[in-house]
Amino acid sequence: MSEQDDREQDLVDRVVASFDGTPDPRLRQLMQSLTRHLHAFVREVRLTEDEWKQGIDVLTAIGHITDDRRQEFILLSDTLGASMQTIAINNEAYENATEATVFGPFFVADSPRAELGGDIAGGAPGQPCWVSGTVTDTAGRPVPGARIEVWEADSDGFYDVQYGDDRTAGRAHLIADDAGAYRFWAITPTPYPIPHDGPVGAMLAATGRSPMRASHLHFMVTAPGLRTLVTHIFVRGDELLSSDSVFGVKDSLVKDFELVDGGEPPPDGRDLDGQPWARVRFDIVLAPG
Ligand SMILES: [Fe+2]
Repeated sequence: MSEQDDREQDLVDRVVASFDGTPDPRLRQLMQSLTRHLHAFVREVRLTEDEWKQGIDVLTAIGHITDDRRQEFILLSDTLGASMQTIAINNEAYENATEATVFGPFFVADSPRAELGGDIAGGAPGQPCWVSGTVTDTAGRPVPGARIEVWEADSDGFYDVQYGDDRTAGRAHLIADDAGAYRFWAITPTPYPIPHDGPVGAMLAATGRSPMRASHLHFMVTAPGLRTLVTHIFVRGDELLSSDSVFGVKDSLVKDFELVDGGEPPPDGRDLDGQPWARVRFDIVLAPG
């Protein structure tokens, strides 16, 4: 080892040791491991002082643009794949349970309740899409009363929280019926860019990456005694499936959205005035809690 190596390693060792007295063993592990990996990065790339300053500036800008409606830190985590890696670690594959994917920055608590068969679009522009399926456990038993949160962007690529006028659209929750079944009208998902007018967008532009997300509809399904599922369904045939900007696509979550434009009457007696609509089936399987 050179004297330079010794000096660098000595610093790592002293910082790691500074956390030796942390009372909470998990916090101690997290801080010591973070220290080792952070220093390994700095040493591997031979970080310059200008680059260190740029890194600080980027994190500062991410903090400044973040508020209760814009979460740039989640975007950073998502675009670095850290969100999907955390999900992979915490949602181990279990039998036939539906796979999880990224939560994303656009969930809003306390969404309005939609009746089964109701329309969650709330006036959001897009092609009507009938979504139906069941919620069961891994033994195939129905989960009556499961709470199903759904949210999606409109056909212009915007979530309601991006409208800037406090409207709720493309967002609701439903309660599965006695047979664990659910059904609702939404709009057919279309691609949209993650917000890219901030520091994460600048990173994507500087690295030649696209901000586009593959078309998707978000779900969060909760039921007592079962593992909460946060996931999306994706549209088979979407050309963005292989380049999703947050690495959220899993094959099992790609579904057939069938276009219906031959005059077949829409379900639940809805009058669509002859316009084409789509339908998709998504059977949800929850792992044990
Ligand atoms: Fe989304």
